[in-house]
Amino acid sequence: MRIIEAENLTKKYNGFKAVDGVNFHINKGEILGFLGPNGAGKTTTINMLTGLAHINAGTVRLMGEDYTRNAKKAQALMGIVPDESNLYEELSGRQNLCFCGALYGMEKEQRENRAEELLNQFGLHEAAEKPFRAYSKGMKRKLTIAAGLIHDPEILFLDEPTTGIDVAFARQIRSLIVDLHRKGTTIFLTTHYIEEAERLCERIAFIVQGKIVREGTVVGLMEETQEEKIVNFTLGGEFSAVESEFKQAFPGYKLKPGGNSSVSIHSPTSFTLLPFVQFFEERGLPVFEAKIVRPTLEDVFVKITGVDLQKMQTGQGAKPGKGRKGGA
Ligand SMILES: Nc1ncnc2c1ncn2[C@@H]1O[C@H](COP(=O)(O)OP(=O)(O)OP(=O)(O)O)[C@@H](O)[C@H]1O
Ligand SMILES: [Mg+2]
Repeated sequence: MRIIEAENLTKKYNGFKAVDGVNFHINKGEILGFLGPNGAGKTTTINMLTGLAHINAGTVRLMGEDYTRNAKKAQALMGIVPDESNLYEELSGRQNLCFCGALYGMEKEQRENRAEELLNQFGLHEAAEKPFRAYSKGMKRKLTIAAGLIHDPEILFLDEPTTGIDVAFARQIRSLIVDLHRKGTTIFLTTHYIEEAERLCERIAFIVQGKIVREGTVVGLMEETQEEKIVNFTLGGEFSAVESEFKQAFPGYKLKPGGNSSVSIHSPTSFTLLPFVQFFEERGLPVFEAKIVRPTLEDVFVKITGVDLQKMQTGQGAKPGKGRKGGA
């Protein structure tokens, strides 16, 4: 079932199209990732989906119901975790959670119980009474995610959940996301970490300069991009000894020797391994390993988008100035 459907979604800032007619949907229970460099339009898309930014053109539907012009009702079913925390520095972790619960109209007892549950789930119980200001960056991010979950939303929007967080906390946050997914929460997340998208997301949309350039499952995107099938054999002897015989027996395959006892076989179409294994074994070359070589998601991303990888991984692309957030 489709939870969210976006059709031709467009956002302009003074004539500049920050998001330029994107079409996509989010299925119930899945993690959909928007992967793209700085300034691609990821946050703007989240802001439009969650009613935080005015939509210039296109429509958004939540479980079939159009909420393009009125997101109020839809927001009750959404958890929104912005890239920069929106919580109160002077309130404690627990107070922040309860306050968010109150905003969603939860009863006192209900929000207190839920806050307690989330503090435990997110490993923040010991810090519960400390003011938010005293939290580390990673703890702040965790509490901000917990706050987005206070009302048990149908769908959670996570804007760059691990950006700017140290490795250990980033790992914890990813594993919390996996847990939420297992429990059935639908998740839409943005990231400019390719590896994160690959690990977490069932489907990924590549977004560059306001446009979705490709969308698919991780495996699907890889298969689509792979022009040839590649198998790497590790042998119990030297390939060069049988090379000329091999070329005669298997014309039409490209070969790439990889050191003495290893060779890669390339073919434009799929092929079975058995004839090759037999060939080697009959000539006294045992096959220790036959490995299908797949492109990485990085290869796929670069090929499809043409975006320089450095811009993605360092996050130091043309980062637009601060203070632009929240403008509708
Ligand atoms: N309030 C605003 N006013 C003018 N331009 C804006 C505003 N918000 C965003 N933009 C522009 O829209 C484009 C998309 O910005 P957006 O923040 O959606 O990108 P992003 O993919 O989230 O990038 P990042 O990875 O840096 O968070 C950028 O060129 C940005 O400068
Ligand atoms: Mg952003």
